[in-house]
Amino acid sequence: MNNITIPNNINELNTTKEKVLSLLKSNESIYVSGQDIADILFLTRAGVWKAIKSLRADGEIIEAVSNRGYRLNNEGIDIDASLIKTRLSANVPKHFKIYTYDEVTSTNDVVRVISNSEGIYDFIVISNSQTNGRGRRGRSFFSPKGTGIYFSMLLKPNFSFEDASLLTCLSAVALCDAITEVTDIEPSIKWVNDIFCQDKKVAGILTEANTSIEDGHLESVIIGIGINLIDPQNGFPSDIKNTATSLLNKGALPEDVKNRLCASFINHFYSYYNNMNEHTFIKKYIDLSFLIGKHIKINSFENTNDLTKKQGTAKDNYALVLGINEKCHLLVEYEDGHKASLKNGEVSVVEY
Ligand code: BTN
Repeated sequence: MNNITIPNNINELNTTKEKVLSLLKSNESIYVSGQDIADILFLTRAGVWKAIKSLRADGEIIEAVSNRGYRLNNEGIDIDASLIKTRLSANVPKHFKIYTYDEVTSTNDVVRVISNSEGIYDFIVISNSQTNGRGRRGRSFFSPKGTGIYFSMLLKPNFSFEDASLLTCLSAVALCDAITEVTDIEPSIKWVNDIFCQDKKVAGILTEANTSIEDGHLESVIIGIGINLIDPQNGFPSDIKNTATSLLNKGALPEDVKNRLCASFINHFYSYYNNMNEHTFIKKYIDLSFLIGKHIKINSFENTNDLTKKQGTAKDNYALVLGINEKCHLLVEYEDGHKASLKNGEVSVVEY
């Protein structure tokens, strides 16, 4: 047997999978042969292989080299799926899975690929960077390595397409809760899906719904979130440098912050999601929204309900925000006095 470190608590772990992972973690710099793993853990070679396969399905990156063995290769990935898992609360489904990556095109796209091939739901894909990060309205989302975190969850909600948009608001509240719990920073929400700190955006949410072509039934929802954690070394790109900032500003990334933020987000998310009908998150969403009482310019909107049954004028895109209703629609009063609720859209604050 090679010089293998055997963790002290290995016999206290419940499952074979946990034991194999713990053994590989304690020997990250070397390859551990399948036979050595089998001997240490009193397994058959087939049992070792089954555990390795299952760990890979959980997103662990395990290299296999013939005649040498297995090696956990989480190099460059400071996201630790097993650490996140140990921090999940009882609200999170037992079958919840975590996939971690160093670089992907877009975590929303990886979610789709996994969902198509494995047919599962209630899982998260977390990455250190994205080469093709997507924002709302066809924009790109700046997702460099080392300064942010990017993740997407897949859900199979049992409600209408109409209510799917509420998940964006629920996620915004869960994200604010997580940020405050982990960093003590109190962010605010810019309707609909932006998280702000010091008047600038630190995080964005992209919700994508998959509906059945036949009956329009909501089949699944992907919620993608990107957070700027620290300032990029060369600053933000010119198109967002006046509007974007990072949560922790300058300096190094505190250890474990990515794992803590992800775990906290998942926990808060499911605690609201499991009680979706109670709408507890809506009150919080309203409390955290900084647009209420502000004058805004409505840059675009997807659906509006004219509450005063009056036709708008050309100046209609300037309005005062009166509030947010129980469906998370923005209630506005236009300059000509007529009122409306906006279901979705993009607005900017106007300073007079
Ligand atoms: C926005 O601000 O317009 C929404 C940004 C959403 C970005 C996240 S990062 C993780 C997930 N993957 C993507 O490609 N986009 C979302």
